[in-house]
Amino acid sequence: MNPLLQITGLRKSFGARELLNIDELTIQAAQAYVLTGMNGSGKSTLLRILAGLEQAHTRQLMFAGEVCKLIPYPRQLREAIVYVHQHPVMFSGTVADNIAYGLRLRKSGQLREQIELVAQAMQWAGVTHLQQHAARTLSGGEKQRVALARAKVLQPRLLLLDEPTSNLDGEAREQVIALIPSLTQAGSSVIMVCHDRELIALPDMHRLKLRDGKLEVRTT
Ligand SMILES: Nc1ncnc2c1ncn2[C@@H]1O[C@H](COP(=O)(O)OP(=O)(O)O)[C@@H](O)[C@H]1O
Ligand SMILES: [Mg+2]
Repeated sequence: MNPLLQITGLRKSFGARELLNIDELTIQAAQAYVLTGMNGSGKSTLLRILAGLEQAHTRQLMFAGEVCKLIPYPRQLREAIVYVHQHPVMFSGTVADNIAYGLRLRKSGQLREQIELVAQAMQWAGVTHLQQHAARTLSGGEKQRVALARAKVLQPRLLLLDEPTSNLDGEAREQVIALIPSLTQAGSSVIMVCHDRELIALPDMHRLKLRDGKLEVRTT
């Protein structure tokens, strides 16, 4: 195994209430994890901490073999970790604009390369036919797929998905589920909060569970 992220002693409180007290969290490179736990157990908060959207204390954090801190949130993690919200926000503009947004922000590569990456991501997510549509007018399932493409195009080492199918049903849900295995095949690690049994049952899923602030690693 090849650990991408190793954290020991992660603690998070809101006021007097301690929400998370995690002895150890290890995420292997190019592996997928489902994170379960009751409502309010801190699943979204944990993802937000890893994405630098919320602060927390850690005893030690190693990312790709280097010691890092969470505060201030380092550039190395900002470039490597992408968080996809449960209700992804679409920016004004087209689907293609939305997917290109992060690449433009990072000014990574030539314009021609960016266009090619965006085209590949749209094809992957099955939204090529929507590329000139205003992103804000899409259905929930289409928005979720655009959000996944917008994240994937950045080639993150770690992708954090917060309940990617919880607002979807039928074909929209199946389309999102079908995208997940290809993320690890492309070399990204994935941590996915979800209750969707079909997602949990995907092959090679590792299982994590939050209970009373502790993280349990499940082997079943
Ligand atoms: N910014 C905040 N300030 C205070 N309490 C918060 C904040 N964010 C989350 N919480 C609380 O932390 C708990 C865990 O929230 P959350 O991580 O969203 O849980 P989950 O995603 O597992 O349902 C909840 O009780 C929530 O109200
Ligand atoms: Mg949540």
